[in-house]
This record gives sequence, C-alpha cells and structure tokens, in this order.
Amino acid sequence: MQFAVPPRKGPVAPPSTRSSSLTFQRRKQLKTITTLSIALFTLFLLLSQLFYSSTETAAAARGTPGLVIVTVLDHTLYGDHYLQKIIKNREHYAQRHGYTNFFANLSDYDSYIGYAPRSWGIVPVLRHAMAKHPSSTYFFHLDAHALFMDPSKTLDAHLLNKHRLEALMRRDVPIVPPDSIIKTFSHLRSDDIDLMITTDAEDLSTGSFVLRQGDFARFFLDTWFDPLYRSYNFAKAETHTLEHVVQWHPTALARLALIPQRVINAYSKDSPSAGVDGTYKDGDLVIRFFGCDTDPERNCERELDPYYSLWAKKLKFE
Ligand SMILES: *[C@@H]1O[C@H](CO)[C@@H](O)[C@H](O)[C@H]1NC(C)=O
Repeated sequence: MQFAVPPRKGPVAPPSTRSSSLTFQRRKQLKTITTLSIALFTLFLLLSQLFYSSTETAAAARGTPGLVIVTVLDHTLYGDHYLQKIIKNREHYAQRHGYTNFFANLSDYDSYIGYAPRSWGIVPVLRHAMAKHPSSTYFFHLDAHALFMDPSKTLDAHLLNKHRLEALMRRDVPIVPPDSIIKTFSHLRSDDIDLMITTDAEDLSTGSFVLRQGDFARFFLDTWFDPLYRSYNFAKAETHTLEHVVQWHPTALARLALIPQRVINAYSKDSPSAGVDGTYKDGDLVIRFFGCDTDPERNCERELDPYYSLWAKKLKFE
C-alpha cells in the first residue's frame, strides 16, 4: 500500500538525477538522434505537403474536380414515373465520370421565390448547391426536361478544358440574339471565364449553363436575384433579367463565354427557336425538350420517351 502511486497518463520525463548520470557520449548520441528525427519529420511534412498540393493543382488544372450537375424538379407538375427517368439518366452520367448530382425539389424554395414566377427557382437552388458543395469547382445547371445522350463525353474534354474552351468561345458576337449592340469581348481567354452559356435564336439560355464557384459566382447570383428584377415583371422573368445583367454589367460580360448551342444545349426538333445549328444531332452530349413544359400542345414525357429508349438501348451495347 505504501507503494501505491496515482495513475499517470502519457510519458513522464525522467528524473533529472538520471540525466546527469548519462555520459557525455550518450548525451551527444541522443542529441544526434533527436536532431535527425526532427529533420526527418520536417522532411516528411514538407514532402507530404508538396505531394498534396501537387495533386490538388493537377486536379484543378484538369478542371473537373467536384463537378456538380444541378437539376430543379417540380414534383407538383410532374409525376415520379417521368422524373425518375431524368434522374436515372443523370445518375448514370455522373457516376460514370465521378460527378455529383444535386436534385432540388422546387417546392422547398417557394419561400425564396415569393410571388415571382417559379422559374426563378434556379437561382436559390444554385446558391444552395454551392453552399452544400463548397469545394466543388463547376456547377452545371441543366433544365429537367433534357437527357444526356452521349454519356461517353466528359465535360472536361467537351467544354471545360482550357484549350477546348478557348476554341469554343464565340468572340465579338451579340450577347443577346439576334443583334444586341453589346457584344461578347474579343480579348477574353479561357482563364477569365466563370460562366459558360449559349443562346438560342431568341435568348440567352438559362436552361443550360456552367458556373464556376467563387467570388464572381456569388456576386453574379446575388445580382441576378435582386428583388428589384424579380418584381419588375420582365416578360421572360429570370431570362430577361440575365440578359439585362450581362448587358449592363461589364463585370459579368468579362467573365462570360458564349459557346455554340449544341455543345451543352441542343434542342429537340419540336423545340421552337433553336439557334443556327442548334438542333440536336446524333452524337451531341445532351438533348433539351425546350418549351415542352410551357406549351399546352406539347407533352414532355411523350417527347422524351423515344430518346430515353435510345439512350437505354445504347447502354446495353456498351
Ligand atoms: C417536395 O417538397 C415539398 C415541400 O417541402 C414536400 O411536401 C414534398 O413531399 C417534396 N416532394 C418530394 C418528392 O420530395
């Protein structure tokens, strides 16, 4: 009982009497070992840091880490049978290339949209997607009424890659078709770009664009969603607002690349107002059934079905 000692946690320094008993030689050895260990540990830290940052930059240069496909689903207008096809098609595409899907239930955003048209939902949904995926770089908003038709294409090789984007950028052309006075800047390089978007014959297409997360994206989404614009009653709500923003804010125009429509926004043959060479051709990345949701004569599911079957059949033969 007299030897009972309180339990101790962790290593305990040796009593100083012991260290004084160490010979000079032994102390020198200890010092060398300590110095060596510290040096090795530092080297290890440095190397791991170097390795870590080099994989990071390699990934950033490749351009696709954490690409998020953003889809707004309106469960109040469309049944599960139809929406599940859209979800399945996007899940397959994302899984194949390591992308992430962000499916939003439009009803969850009603309080942000207020009395404005529900098509405004894409802006708070994008903000939400970015908040949910803070380390993802690119956010691809693709309207629900669309299918990935050539899943072998990566968005990197097809659009985001520096050289590819450089080649796709349409310079010094009217930003709003057919002939707005404001034209896309001709001096921009792919490094300047945060927003990649197309036009059809009439408008900038809000139904398919890629936005890079960062300071610009925050400014851009806030500006786009300004309450003044939402209450202004533009005939085409968020589309006309976007056209206003890019024509009146050179800050936005300086980050924008207009790319050929079919790269991310090919229209089905039943869609009105496809741009020049904007109609879907076999081999395009996506097909959009533009306007199928607003034209009472049309039916989104009936239009989508044959292309969905084609896509499903193609998968079987891969
Ligand atoms: C979508 O959100 C609404 C309201 O938040 C909810 O009532 C509804 O069940 C949701 N639908 C689905 C399919 O998650």
